[in-house]
Amino acid sequence: MSTAVTAKGLEGVVAGETSICRVEQTSLIYRGYEIADLAANATFEQVAFLLIEGHKPDDAELARFRDELVANRALPTPVIEFLKTIGPMIQSGSAAPMDIIRTCVSILGNLDPDSQHNSPDANLRKSKRILAKAPTIIGHMQNVIDGRDIIAPGTGGDANLSHAANLLYLMTGTRPSPEYEKVMDVSLILYAEHDFNASTFTSRVIAGTLSDMHGAVAGAIAALKGPLHGGANEAAMEMLKEIQASVAAGGTVQAFMDNAFAQKRKLMGFGHRVYKQGDHRAGILHALGRKAAESKGPDAVALFEIGEEVQRIMQDQKGIFPNVDFPCGMTYFVMGIPVPQYTPIFVASRISGWCAHIMEQHANNRLIRPRASYIGQDLRQWNP
Ligand code: SDX
Repeated sequence: MSTAVTAKGLEGVVAGETSICRVEQTSLIYRGYEIADLAANATFEQVAFLLIEGHKPDDAELARFRDELVANRALPTPVIEFLKTIGPMIQSGSAAPMDIIRTCVSILGNLDPDSQHNSPDANLRKSKRILAKAPTIIGHMQNVIDGRDIIAPGTGGDANLSHAANLLYLMTGTRPSPEYEKVMDVSLILYAEHDFNASTFTSRVIAGTLSDMHGAVAGAIAALKGPLHGGANEAAMEMLKEIQASVAAGGTVQAFMDNAFAQKRKLMGFGHRVYKQGDHRAGILHALGRKAAESKGPDAVALFEIGEEVQRIMQDQKGIFPNVDFPCGMTYFVMGIPVPQYTPIFVASRISGWCAHIMEQHANNRLIRPRASYIGQDLRQWNP
């Protein structure tokens, strides 16, 4: 028996069960904890443990988890060599950082002793390894792009730094201020998990064939790259740069928006399939990003003011709210992070959610194989 689903883009379709996350207009909850509570009171490492291991860590569990992550940060030589080789392709535009981190995860799969094992223990070990290595991939990649020596290739960073701080350190060679560490940490918490979004659903479809975790994460990275999904944080900042340039040339934000509306242009970082009245995460990140902008200076504040005007016009004229990617773009820009690394940083967080879902899928698996409604040619003969 088949049930026809005609909702384009599967809008409103409940495609399975999960105990990891609940996404509603009224609340966003990770394993029973509300997102504002986590952003205010937890660290990314605690949230990643919560997602991957399934419960809030006690002090000993958290210390052990941190040690495991630190011990797994360094990249194997073939991945470092790949990053050095691919560097020039980034400059020429044929390779994008999201493609590179996806390829690195595939290479890591080829080298992981557990890669062909889907047992809960093997999956847990792989989750931690992939999570630990993602910031190192981004950092080393940025070093290659910047033409500098790779920072801490033997250790994958500074063992005393958190996931968030080490990511920034690996990219720049400078240990971040407590303020920037906090902003990065909270952004990683906000990005960590979001039920059956496109990339997570991709990872579950792959895992549902009993394929392996590195493959499922690589597929999820490919899905996250698109500007309708995670790629929107980069696209939102590129759009803001365009608005800034038009204001600098004597235009107004209102004129830019009127033109965008007339052209039926999609405004990046706005709208959401579930949150029609606003994204819980956007306000949290906006407040932190604005504070960082105020500490940085007038140019940074001016960028936020343009962003706020864009938000006001979108809300007043279209009734459409920003999603988390809109404040993320401005916030990472103020922090001096290169725009093409915004979505890879999303990866460095969302791996925790993907891995939790891959493990949940493997633990109670059934192949995910929906039907299609055929709308093609009627039956005809090859040789009429
Ligand atoms: C993420 O789902 C998740 O969980 C994802 C995510 C996560 O944590 O994993 O939250 C992260 O991916 C956030 C989304 C990032 N994408 C963008 O910011 C790209 C811009 N946004 C849109 O393209 C859009 O809003 C989507 C893709 C986010 C949602 O698409 P839907 O649900 O298919 O909605 P739609 O495109 O059908 O829009 C409905 C209406 C349309 O107008 P009408 O045709 O009905 O007149 O709203 C309009 C759209 O044109 N609209 C927009 C708009 N978003 C919706 N118009 C202009 N700009 C926009 N951004």
